Formats: sequence, C-alpha cells, structure tokens
Amino acid sequence: MSAVLADRARPAPARGAVPARTALVLLGTGVVGGAFLRLLDTPAAAPLRLVGVADSRRQCTDAACLAGRGLRERLQAEGEARDDAVLLAALDASGAADKAIVDATASTALAAQHPRWLARGYRVVTANKTLAGGELAGWRALQAALAGGARYGDAATVGAGLPVLSTLRRLRACGDRLLKLEGVFSGSLSWLFNSYDGRRPFSALLREARAGGYAEPDPRCDLSGADVARKLLILARAAGFAPDCDEVDVQGLVPAPLRALDAEAFLARMQELDAPLAARHAAAASRGCVLRFLARLDADGRARVGLTEVPATHPAARLDGTDNLFVLTTTRYRAQPLVIQGPGAGPEVTAQALLGDVLALGDPIAAERRT
Ligand SMILES: NC(=O)c1ccc[n+]([C@@H]2O[C@H](COP(=O)([O-])OP(=O)(O)OC[C@H]3O[C@@H](n4cnc5c(N)ncnc54)[C@H](OP(=O)(O)O)[C@@H]3O)[C@@H](O)[C@H]2O)c1
Repeated sequence: MSAVLADRARPAPARGAVPARTALVLLGTGVVGGAFLRLLDTPAAAPLRLVGVADSRRQCTDAACLAGRGLRERLQAEGEARDDAVLLAALDASGAADKAIVDATASTALAAQHPRWLARGYRVVTANKTLAGGELAGWRALQAALAGGARYGDAATVGAGLPVLSTLRRLRACGDRLLKLEGVFSGSLSWLFNSYDGRRPFSALLREARAGGYAEPDPRCDLSGADVARKLLILARAAGFAPDCDEVDVQGLVPAPLRALDAEAFLARMQELDAPLAARHAAAASRGCVLRFLARLDADGRARVGLTEVPATHPAARLDGTDNLFVLTTTRYRAQPLVIQGPGAGPEVTAQALLGDVLALGDPIAAERRT
C-alpha cells in the first residue's frame, strides 16, 4: 500500500498535527468519480484528504469506510442515507485550510447548489455541466458567487480537461476578442462521423460505438446534440456572451417519431436513421465534402449545433477516433486560428482535469498567479 493510500485511510488528524492542505468530498462514484478515486491513490494527490464520498443514494464520511480500496463497494454495503449537510460537516471538521467539493455527477439538483457552497467558502470543482451550461439564471447565480472571490474549477466540463476554457479566458483577459469558435465537442459524435463513409449503415456504427463504450447506452443522449449545446453555452459565456439555453440553434439527429420512445424501442428502430444520413453523406461527397457534427459560435454570440458539410481542407475533416476539436478565431489569431485538439472524453483525462483543478485551487501560489 502506498503512503498516499495510507493517508486516504488515516482518520482526521489529532489536534496539533499538520492537517492535509485540502480536504475534499466527492459526489459521484461512476465512470469519472471512480477514475478520480484511483487518482487519489497516486503521489500527485498527497496534499489531499478525502473526508466524504457519495453516490445518489448512499454516502460515507467514516474514516474506516473511506480507507483503502473497494470504497465503491463499501459505500453500497455500509453507506448511510444521503445528506449533504453531513458531508459539509465532515469538511468543516477536517481542519484543512481548503475545503473542496468535487461534483462528478450529472445532477441538476446538485449543480444548483454550487453557488451556495461557493458562498459558504468551499471550493467547487466540477465535471457537471448542468449549471454553467444550463439556464441563464443558474449561470448568473454562479457568476454572483464568483464575484465574491470564490473559486470554481470547471476544466472538466468542456473537452474533458483539454485547455480550452483556460485559453479562452486568458485570451479574453488580454483583450483578445473571439470572432468565431467552431469545433467538434463530442467524443462519440466525433468517432461516429470520422468513421462513417456511407458503406456501413449509420445504425451499425452506433451499435459498435455503444459496444465500445464511445456512446451512451441510450445513443440519443449524444445524437440529440444537447450535451454539445451545453458545452457551447459554457464556452460562449466564458467568451463574454450570455445566451440562454433556448438561444442555441440545436439541429439534433433524432427524428421526432423516435424522440419519445423508451430506450429499448429506440434501439430497435435505430435503422430509421440510416437512409436520411446516407442521403446527406452522398450529397456532401458529391461536393467533395464530409459530414461533421459541429458546434459554432460567431462574433455576435449566435450559437448553432448540428450536422454540417465541411470540405476536406477543414480541420474537422482530418479528425481521428474520438478526438475533440476547438478552432478559435480571434482578433489576434485571425489569419491563422488557434487550434486545440485531443481526447475530449474518457474517465482518466476527465478525472485528471478534476484533480488538476483541486490542486490548483488549493495552491495559494497558483491561485495568486491567476488573480
Ligand atoms: N464519462 C466521461 O468521459 C465524461 C467526460 C467529461 C465530463 N463528464 C461528465 O462527468 C459527469 C459524470 O459522468 P460519468 O460518466 O461518471 O457518469 P456516471 O457513470 O453515470 O456516474 C454518475 C455518478 O453520479 C452519481 N450521482 C447522481 N446523483 C447524485 C447525487 N445527487 N449525489 C451524489 N451522487 C450522485 C451516480 O450515483 P448512482 O450510481 O447512485 O446513480 C453516479 O455515481 C457527468 O456530468 C458527465 O457529463 C463525463
């Protein structure tokens, strides 16, 4: 067992002992939360002490329950009923200088608590997009909390930690203005259209994507474009615009008759997507273009998400696998846009983005450098 693992297992420090620099609570132990727990057992997490973990139904703040491996299983077996107040009390009792809440869920109800937690002095680090990429009122509440000096780590919400939000904010702080943002913001939609050449039916690719874990169990989560629209909203707001959800023009790929079906019925009828997409593919190919599921923001803040024909020279046409792409044209990157590309999904990189934010927000020197 590593020294760090032992630290995670250690009960709260005795009075007079040096406490961990940052105490943290983890919300969500799924794909991303599970990867985050594994990272806590690495030397990089040495300044951190886990004092609470929760999934949607159970939680644990007890040192013996939090100790060592198999935490997710112990949570099920020994966990107590969910109560945010108990998790916050564990942070307060930790004696740590910094207290962080890591949100690795997709819960709208939890995200709505972020401003309140920030106002109470906790750091919040999140992979959950539903606040910053949700209703404008929620985003404004978040901005109000941040205006009071609170610190929010959101690198994991877009591009799974690719340096997109940080770059956009840095450019803006330097007075550089976004003229156009364009890209592929979904790993699954990237893979689907990078792979689709019209020879195999689109529904066969969807089945392969589900089997390979590149698509959600219900592929409509990806195909609707809603997740991409949330990311575009987060980026648009970081760029200085304030669009509301209904101002994003989302052209999803799920035809109306398939939207209300339950997941199983949709899976049984997925081949209804094949003919329309084959026709669009053939039309694009006849013009020397390929199809990509693009998100776009223009200089006036107009946001659009949908399937687009792009020429072979477009950076999106050259994407591979599940890569994400962000092409930023700004007043100073005008002749040649700034391009950020790389894995935009996956538990390890997303968990690493969370860890990076927890470490940076808890580091007084790094925090000083950012202000
Ligand atoms: N997977 C990726 O590659 C990726 C990349 C970037 C961002 N993200 C984002 O990261 C977040 C998590 O994704 P995931 O793939 O890890 O999802 P997941 O596997 O479905 O896990 C979600 C976790 O959240 C828990 N949860 C739900 N409501 C909760 C509540 N009220 N309190 C505490 N825990 C709660 C769930 O508990 P139960 O098991 O009890 O339901 C589960 O443990 C999402 O917002 C997602 O959009 C994911």
